[in-house]
Amino acid sequence: MKEIPLGFVSGTVVNRTDWAAHLFSLEVHAPASAFPSPPFIAGQFSKLAVQDEEGEWVRRAYSMVNKPCIESDKAIFEFLVIEIPDGKLTPLLGQLSQGDDVLVGTLPSGFMTLEEVPETAKDLWMLSTGTGIGPFISILEEIEQCKRFEHLILVHAVRTKEELVYKDKIMSLLKQYQGKLRYVPIVSREPVSGALSGRIPQQLQTGGLATAAHVPLTEQGSFFYLCGNPNMVHDTRDALQIMGYKKHLRREAGHFSFENYW
Ligand SMILES: Cc1cc2nc3c(=O)[nH]c(=O)nc-3n(C[C@H](O)[C@H](O)[C@H](O)COP(=O)(O)OP(=O)(O)OC[C@H]3O[C@@H](n4cnc5c(N)ncnc54)[C@H](O)[C@@H]3O)c2cc1C
Ligand SMILES: NC(=O)c1ccc[n+]([C@@H]2O[C@H](COP(=O)([O-])OP(=O)(O)OC[C@H]3O[C@@H](n4cnc5c(N)ncnc54)[C@H](OP(=O)(O)O)[C@@H]3O)[C@@H](O)[C@H]2O)c1
Repeated sequence: MKEIPLGFVSGTVVNRTDWAAHLFSLEVHAPASAFPSPPFIAGQFSKLAVQDEEGEWVRRAYSMVNKPCIESDKAIFEFLVIEIPDGKLTPLLGQLSQGDDVLVGTLPSGFMTLEEVPETAKDLWMLSTGTGIGPFISILEEIEQCKRFEHLILVHAVRTKEELVYKDKIMSLLKQYQGKLRYVPIVSREPVSGALSGRIPQQLQTGGLATAAHVPLTEQGSFFYLCGNPNMVHDTRDALQIMGYKKHLRREAGHFSFENYW
């Protein structure tokens, strides 16, 4: 095996969940000594790397889905991955199973965290497509820190029903939040009972999201995190700006921030 590149440590896949043929989660354990404690902040991403046929390390960014934690000297990471048929790394990740090695980045990063949400925000809207739901599940696992909000709204837009992942986890979080958390699934390519149809920007502008969540949108209290498909992020930013919301900057509080996955 080629030398482990700087900024990575060898981890082991301890669990794999297959949600659909092309969509899966990997739980990876890595030596805690390679990370600070806690090993990351909810909402952040790290990197995964696997060697390709030529022996080169292929590395990409992946968000953590789990609550940051260390157990028995192991830093725990869970990743939700969609396999891109012609992708360089995801078909290799798709071959991993329990007991396999995978490199994990030792420098998790990213600013889509609870700390970055302005103090004035009352309702945190988490708008995601596809695997972009991952960091929001991690954020929602920080129940104590999320108590500052009046409402948390998790919006997950996918193509088909089978891609509505982490249903059991979301149901458990809904119970724990006792009404504070709202879950709004959107399925775009087939009718699904209990889910909205169409796309996030259109559902924002027509009031569909606010109605489904039973939470009004207000310039004073709403803050939006956008994550996933860059076209969704682009179109949602446009929609929010038309609706009078401003991009959030550290030097000037606004209403929305985002993370593009490609
Ligand atoms: C900050 C950050 C966090 C990320 N977190 C995740 C994550 O948690 N889960 C995850 O699956 N991916 C995530 N990604 C994307 C990931 O880094 C890879 O780009 C992706 O897995 C494709 O890798 P690949 O080598 O197989 O494809 P490549 O050979 O690099 O091909 C890339 C192409 O695949 C498509 N694509 C890339 N990512 C996705 C995606 N997530 N969903 C749909 N189409 C995509 C785009 O068309 C892109 O141009 C994240 C990216 C960033 C920048
Ligand atoms: N290996 C396999 O068998 C397999 C199977 C399926 C997918 N894939 C791979 O996975 C990738 C798709 O992943 P994904 O389903 O997470 O991706 P996606 O294309 O990002 O779709 C997720 C959701 O985002 C919506 N969306 C797309 N563009 C938008 C925009 N401009 N504004 C608002 N919403 C928008 C989609 O709506 P629309 O439906 O209206 O576009 C869909 O509801 C594909 O590129 C493919 O490579 C692989």
